[in-house]
Amino acid sequence: MPDIIYLTFSYRFIMNKKPLETHRDQLFADLVAEPSQFSFNEAVVDVFPDMIQRSVPGYGTVVRMTGVLTEQHAKEGTHVYDLGCSLGESIRAAELAIGDRACHLIGVDNSPAMIEKVREEMRPLSKIVWHLSDITQMEFKTASVVIMNFTLQFIPINERLKLLKQIRSSMVPGGLLILSEKLTMPDAEMNQLMVELHHDFKRSQGYSDLEIAQKRDAIDNVLIPETAEAHRTRLAEAGFSRSSIWFQCLNFASFIAIA
Ligand SMILES: C[S@@+](CC[C@H](N)C(=O)[O-])C[C@H]1O[C@@H](n2cnc3c(N)ncnc32)[C@H](O)[C@@H]1O
Repeated sequence: MPDIIYLTFSYRFIMNKKPLETHRDQLFADLVAEPSQFSFNEAVVDVFPDMIQRSVPGYGTVVRMTGVLTEQHAKEGTHVYDLGCSLGESIRAAELAIGDRACHLIGVDNSPAMIEKVREEMRPLSKIVWHLSDITQMEFKTASVVIMNFTLQFIPINERLKLLKQIRSSMVPGGLLILSEKLTMPDAEMNQLMVELHHDFKRSQGYSDLEIAQKRDAIDNVLIPETAEAHRTRLAEAGFSRSSIWFQCLNFASFIAIA
């Protein structure tokens, strides 16, 4: 009997660790007269794991630490949410970290293409339930960990506080929010330096100047970054008792906030 349990666990471990299928991101490689607005459509989903790895400095560390942080804070019988889960990298790290602890793991995204692909790829033996939903419209159940890695930046600024209040009110005392975001710097010159460093980072990952410029134009009014200070003030206003940046690489940071 213990062997069967072990084999089941190992199989889940292997399936969970399975790298997601991806193609190389070349979506912005050809010159277009007017790039259309960026959206998480089928073409993006097809290259998403490659795109996020090569575009977000420190992404791998944020994902791995999401597992470690979830392992510390996930409570039996509660929900662990990943809001804007895309293809589930973060919540898969969480699932792996908590093993067989009895939590309800929920990945939520409003991109049909993302949810369809992750459901298809993760079906074998993952406990994660995948919801196609707008996170500003959903009701949250009791949660001990809420993960929002690089998602809040896509929510209109005037809807962010309401969403964080809703998340906070669903959380158990001592519960953990992991919030990762692209930042803007309060000092204009430092901001410019960070933007240029980020573009250098992307060049070092194989993106051309044309790709960098066209992606920037496409995503400009879709991803709205804020300062670290604005995030921390809002987290306090939403009712989180304390918050801190635990990781930053250039203009990308991850916060933890305690309910
Ligand atoms: C940069 S990706 C997040 C990456 C992902 N968290 C990870 O760790 O790999 C942003 C995701 O947020 C989703 N998203 C944006 N606005 C949303 C909303 N209102 N409700 C649900 N998902 C949303 C997008 O579809 C996209 O998959």
